[in-house]
Amino acid sequence: MYKDKILNLLRQSRSGFLSGEELAMKLGISRTMVWKHIKRLEGEGFGIEAVPSQGYRITSAPDLLRQDDIKRGLKTRTLGKEVHLHAEVVSTNTLAMEMASKGAPEGTVLIAETQTGGKGRLGRKWISPKGNLYFSVVLRPDLPTHKAPLLTLMAAVAVASAIRKTCGVQAAIKWPNDILVSGKKVCGLLTEMSAEPDRIRHIALGIGVDVNMPLDELPPEVRECATTLAAEAGKKIDRTTLLQQILRDLDSRYRVLLQSEAEVLEEWEELNVTIGRRVSVSGARETLEGLAQGIDHEGRLILKLDDGSLRQVAAGDVTILKR
Ligand code: BTN
Repeated sequence: MYKDKILNLLRQSRSGFLSGEELAMKLGISRTMVWKHIKRLEGEGFGIEAVPSQGYRITSAPDLLRQDDIKRGLKTRTLGKEVHLHAEVVSTNTLAMEMASKGAPEGTVLIAETQTGGKGRLGRKWISPKGNLYFSVVLRPDLPTHKAPLLTLMAAVAVASAIRKTCGVQAAIKWPNDILVSGKKVCGLLTEMSAEPDRIRHIALGIGVDVNMPLDELPPEVRECATTLAAEAGKKIDRTTLLQQILRDLDSRYRVLLQSEAEVLEEWEELNVTIGRRVSVSGARETLEGLAQGIDHEGRLILKLDDGSLRQVAAGDVTILKR
């Protein structure tokens, strides 16, 4: 698309300026066509000034994700070879599962600016207003089904470390897969799987990060325990930079995990805020209270109950209790 090419050329120009004539020459189109595409970019929210004898220059960009920007400089091996960006979908996870069953290659990334039916864990809704990140990755790991929870732990490690690198805040993991900053949730992960009796066929790894949305758009029931990265960092976060870093960190950790889980589990333990704490875990059937002792090789939480017995918990909501 000429519009995107014009944008790239203007961004790459050293002085920031390129004249209509230069753009027309580089692209092999007329100056009138250049002008029309400039108007289109303005219509999308770009601020573009036209200075006599210097040309066009970008002065501001809308807070919209762009496929080109996401792919530029990504340098991943598996993730993001295909990137599909949508203004609105029902759920990127649902779409990823559909595309995976139709043969979408491993590493396909599906991103949406908003979701109308975003899904959370345990059948909850994931409210998805503009300004955040909602995306899902198609994975086809050569792993037995019972190892699938390790992928969520691996993803939590990748997201927490990417947030630390790009936003300068101390992101931590609460078992199994919530990312917290200052004790409040900023990101959730939802893994859906299609499997044969003992092998994983494909996985949709869904990630929702509350980045720049206004705090008052958080649902009232989670305002106490959730926050956004912008609120914690005290500045607006560049979503493209964060998304790229998450994809890079996921790409490298995924490769490591397929070789051996030890390194990823070690990193998870370093970043987690659950182990060593007294917790209450509410699952579908019961609520247990005890000391979180560690995680096993399938990602289950090892809980020491007050009677001294050990329980391995595969799923549930953890509340960290006061010491
Ligand atoms: C949680 O309950 O903590 C998990 C939330 C996961 C939300 C993400 S947003 C992108 C992807 N698409 C969905 O419908 N859900 C996940």
